[in-house]
Amino acid sequence: MSSHDVFHVTLLPHGQRFEARPDESLLKAGLRAMAPMQSSCRVGTCRTCLCRLDSGSIDYEIEWPGLTREEKAEGLVLPCVARPLSDVVLRYEA
Ligand code: FES
Repeated sequence: MSSHDVFHVTLLPHGQRFEARPDESLLKAGLRAMAPMQSSCRVGTCRTCLCRLDSGSIDYEIEWPGLTREEKAEGLVLPCVARPLSDVVLRYEA
């Protein structure tokens, strides 16, 4: 595996970091690293895992995750169905 096969994910505000492969969801990678990420359905509909993409880029495993066009444009993401395309920073707001 080359270094390009793994991306680094940072969770704000707590600053926890973990690694994620491009072929797995951010949530799956985070749970493996015992990151404090909430989830429920894990298929992109319930929005329990909702957070904001502060930097980096992602791709979705499903056609249309449970976000409006406006929310997507604002940078909101559902990590249970999002795969990393680069290093990413996710922000959780209280
Ligand atoms: S856990 Fe339900 S949308 Fe992500």
